[in-house]
Amino acid sequence: MFPRTTTNNSPDLDQNSTEAPTDDMHTPSTWHPLSWTDRPSGQPITYPDGAALSRSLDKLKTFPPLVTSGEVERLTTLLSEAQDGRRFMLQGGDCAETLDDCRSEIIAAKLKILLQMSLVMVHGLKKPVIRVGRFAGQYAKPRSSPIESRDGVELPSYYGDLVNRVEFDEEARTPNPHLLVRGYQHAAVTLNFIRSLLDGGFADLHHPDNWDLGFLNHARLRPSLRAEYKRMTDQLAEALRFMEALGDSSLDELSRVEFFTSHEGLNLWYESAQTRQVPRKSGWWDLTTHLPWIGERTRALDGAHIEYFRGVRNPVGVKVGPSADPDEVVKMLELINPTDQPGKVVLIHRMGANRVEDRLQPILEAVADSGRKVLWTCDPMHGNTVAVGANGIKTRRFDDILSEIEAACDAHDRVGTYLGGVHFELTGEDVTECIGGGSGVTEDDLERNYASPCDPRLNYQQALEMAFLLSRRLSN
Ligand code: PEP
Ligand code: CO
Repeated sequence: MFPRTTTNNSPDLDQNSTEAPTDDMHTPSTWHPLSWTDRPSGQPITYPDGAALSRSLDKLKTFPPLVTSGEVERLTTLLSEAQDGRRFMLQGGDCAETLDDCRSEIIAAKLKILLQMSLVMVHGLKKPVIRVGRFAGQYAKPRSSPIESRDGVELPSYYGDLVNRVEFDEEARTPNPHLLVRGYQHAAVTLNFIRSLLDGGFADLHHPDNWDLGFLNHARLRPSLRAEYKRMTDQLAEALRFMEALGDSSLDELSRVEFFTSHEGLNLWYESAQTRQVPRKSGWWDLTTHLPWIGERTRALDGAHIEYFRGVRNPVGVKVGPSADPDEVVKMLELINPTDQPGKVVLIHRMGANRVEDRLQPILEAVADSGRKVLWTCDPMHGNTVAVGANGIKTRRFDDILSEIEAACDAHDRVGTYLGGVHFELTGEDVTECIGGGSGVTEDDLERNYASPCDPRLNYQQALEMAFLLSRRLSN
């Protein structure tokens, strides 16, 4: 994949050890890969069978890493350029990947929509876009309640396929450490397929003729918007034809895009078992993914997740919701990035369309006053989930999602900070989980093809339309 331009692409022959604390410039003196186990977790995962957990962790430790430290370093450099306003990050994928959906057509469709969105955005923003998938490990989910009850029966909630299974029976819902190994294996298979697709070119994706833009003709769009989309796709097609006319090598360059992986680092057993030192580099690396992130429910300053992630050299995302206190956010930056390394922290704000002005702006101001470096990105999904209909089905409105991004842009403009990325839950499939946009999905359609085991995702059309609208807003 991923980055072909890394200077050091030698394999990371790991020196996996979770023993003595180390002391080098990248490792806090009291930290080691399991130091988080002494801290409270906002989302504890308890395995009843300790011996089985040890066996699974031993297995995970012996497997090769999924990504290399060179790739992680490359992403850090790109993120540092995005902090300076020279790049933009597009992060997206499923709310929860499932082991069953580890299928070629689903993975290819996800890659395709992310790639297409990124091209629309490169064209609109006139900036390189860093592409980051929520994939190859997005298998662990935080839950609002540890217990789910149905008809008087109480069982542990479903925490994603890395932890337990979605079926509502005792065996399925008991955290099973073997799923750590299965999750790792599925992440590896997913990554292998993505790496091959990207290495093989995937060039046809660059031809708008092959894009499913038929929806423009039947979508419920205002005529002026339809005309504008048409103009944008025509311009994009023209630019791609021009690249093609320059000759094979430039087309080849264009088609070999960089891609990075990310997931919520919720299950610290999984992350710490794959945490390694590598030859000729100091510090420790979480080699399950390039960009792990800490969720809104696990960012407590004295909690297990901050403890674990302050010790690894990966860039780290942190979700920041409406309950976040500005001073606490600055303290968190001091903890996970004490030396203020560029490209190290991505703050992913997710306030809800109506909370941006009162909740986001003070945080932007506090971080700007602290002078600390962060990449600001907006997740317009998680603050805009609503339950509708008699069944209380979870959905999100296209207009709320767009409106959070627009409000966030305005807040950044007022404070003088740079919104350097967006974070979406989306799929390349034709699902009916979010309402609105030109797709015409309404509340009545939701049950027709609601496939997410967790949060509602933008479908192919909605995601592409969002990219068009974003490009328009962000190019202003
Ligand atoms: C998520 O990204 O799926 C998620 C649970 O987000 P948050 O931590 O922002 O609620
Ligand atoms: Co989600």
